[in-house]
Amino acid sequence: MLPEAVRDRALSARLPAYVYDLAGLRSHAASIRDSVPAEVFYAAKANPDARILAALQPYVDGVEVSSGGELTHVRETLPGARLAFGGPGKTDEELALPAYRIHVESPHELRRLAALRQERDVLLRVNLPVAATGAALSMDGPFGMDPEALGTCLDLLARTPWLRLRGVHAHLASGLGAAQSLGVSAQVLGWARSWLDGPSEINLGGGMAVDYRNPGDRFDWAAYGSGLAALRQAGETLRIEPGRAVTAYCGWYVTDVLDVKRSHGEWYAVLRGGTHHLRTPAAKGHDQPLTVLATRSGPAASGPVTLVGQLCTPKDVFARRAPVERIAIGDVVAFAMAGAYAWNISHHDFLMHPKPAFVYVNE
Ligand SMILES: Cc1ncc(COP(=O)(O)O)c(C=O)c1O
Repeated sequence: MLPEAVRDRALSARLPAYVYDLAGLRSHAASIRDSVPAEVFYAAKANPDARILAALQPYVDGVEVSSGGELTHVRETLPGARLAFGGPGKTDEELALPAYRIHVESPHELRRLAALRQERDVLLRVNLPVAATGAALSMDGPFGMDPEALGTCLDLLARTPWLRLRGVHAHLASGLGAAQSLGVSAQVLGWARSWLDGPSEINLGGGMAVDYRNPGDRFDWAAYGSGLAALRQAGETLRIEPGRAVTAYCGWYVTDVLDVKRSHGEWYAVLRGGTHHLRTPAAKGHDQPLTVLATRSGPAASGPVTLVGQLCTPKDVFARRAPVERIAIGDVVAFAMAGAYAWNISHHDFLMHPKPAFVYVNE
């Protein structure tokens, strides 16, 4: 569903434009906060836009950052926000940056943190071998530590009182529905309780699913929240750090049709802009959900139509064989679900086309 204010601005903005619905974002974030009996740290990597961070701030307990650049940006944008600093391959300069919590990825990283001799609050990131059926992306690889490596960390922590062990962190998969997320959370909690001694913090990660093929089918925060409430034990601080499922729905990439043509029997619409602005469909391999807004008379294609951008590569595709009834030169197209891993993961400078406008509605 396209909010009226988004439609109005889409039809009047300089194109291409990202249009963000801030009221929609606030009410979505409020419903997540009200459903989930855990601290919510927003994963800034999904969309670190300053206006989005500011809109989210009242509804989240903190922000998860994964680089010195993100940390500095979020600290400047939201002074005083609690920051959890994670991510593999932190440099010494990054390790020295102050954060509310630091997620340590390896025994070597812990040694380097200890060498700074600063008072720090640490979560050890563990790469548990859990079953995550249905995950779009399983975080296999160099993320966190195998449980066997944690003993080395405990030995070091016993000798470095300036490092306070607060608990554990586990972000193991993404693209999980509520039932699968809960299954992973239960496995992490079961392991953490057997490993940790006494009340502790357990960060269960992000990765809540967004279904680009069925935009109406959203992650069931109420089911996840009530499941987590049943799992939760007194004295524990539970935390989650979702990104995509928080901001995906608040953004639209809007642009217009420059050309329509038939090639080898297939209809194509060539749009202003491209995947250098909205890389999400190319990165995830899906068709970006879309609405054709203004229908003009004149040269038109009728569905199925493949919508492409201005880049000189066959990978510059927004949606393949979309079942649009008619799409004409000059029509305006709004791609939905463009609020997360969209502009900020795109290769903006490829071919040096102009950057999009950024428009905020329902502020
Ligand atoms: C450590 C960590 N936490 C949170 C997230 C956010 O995941 P998502 O946007 O899928 O919720 C990511 C994403 O890669 C991550 O690596």
